[in-house]
Amino acid sequence: VDPALAAFADDFVSEDDVLLAARDAADEWGVDSLSPGTGSTLRVIASASQARAVVEIGTGVGVSGVYLVRGMAPGGILTSIDVEPDHHRSARATFAAAGFAPERTRLITGRALDVLPRLTDGGYDLVLIDGRRTEFPEYMEQAVRLARPGGVIIMAHALGHGRVADPAQRDPETTAIREALRAVRGADGLTASLVPIGDGLLIATVNA
Ligand SMILES: C[S@@+](CC[C@H](N)C(=O)[O-])C[C@H]1O[C@@H](n2cnc3c(N)ncnc32)[C@H](O)[C@@H]1O
Repeated sequence: VDPALAAFADDFVSEDDVLLAARDAADEWGVDSLSPGTGSTLRVIASASQARAVVEIGTGVGVSGVYLVRGMAPGGILTSIDVEPDHHRSARATFAAAGFAPERTRLITGRALDVLPRLTDGGYDLVLIDGRRTEFPEYMEQAVRLARPGGVIIMAHALGHGRVADPAQRDPETTAIREALRAVRGADGLTASLVPIGDGLLIATVNA
């Protein structure tokens, strides 16, 4: 995406002190949080689908989580998985600063591929994939199982910092992102769109 247009789309969103502080924490921990344009897209989708149960793979320090919870239906619960206890500590502080009631965010610390199989089939309105990129194809398989009919699956970093569209790039992360994209494109039960906002969002709905 043209960097000037990407910056224009991100500048369209003004972030409050909660998100700005979370971005500072993300810099300290070296976490690659979703951009403002990307986060606001998540919020709109969570709001349009009146999501009450959301799973997020890759909490980071809570930037995407703030956008999601702000979009979800009142009382909706965000279940968010991250392998790093330090990231979860920081995310808890972010969610408290946002004023979310503690029961609205359920943080599960562990490796996503260990945690996801324990979550309920078809139990979620929205699944966001933003964890370890080499595991995106496995996350996608789990997301298809977890999303209810009519539910939404979103995969972040779908453009892999511009590398996914370049066939000469064959590193493990890029290859894994491409594999997850191919799986979605070839799936009968999904309707999908690849949206070039920020580093790209693959957005799919599970056909009801
Ligand atoms: C790109 S960051 C997530 C950013 C967050 N979604 C945001 O926009 O604010 C990726 C996160 O995935 C976590 N992670 C890496 N490998 C993981 C794994 N195997 N299972 C769960 N989380 C993992 C990292 O600790 C990191 O916090």
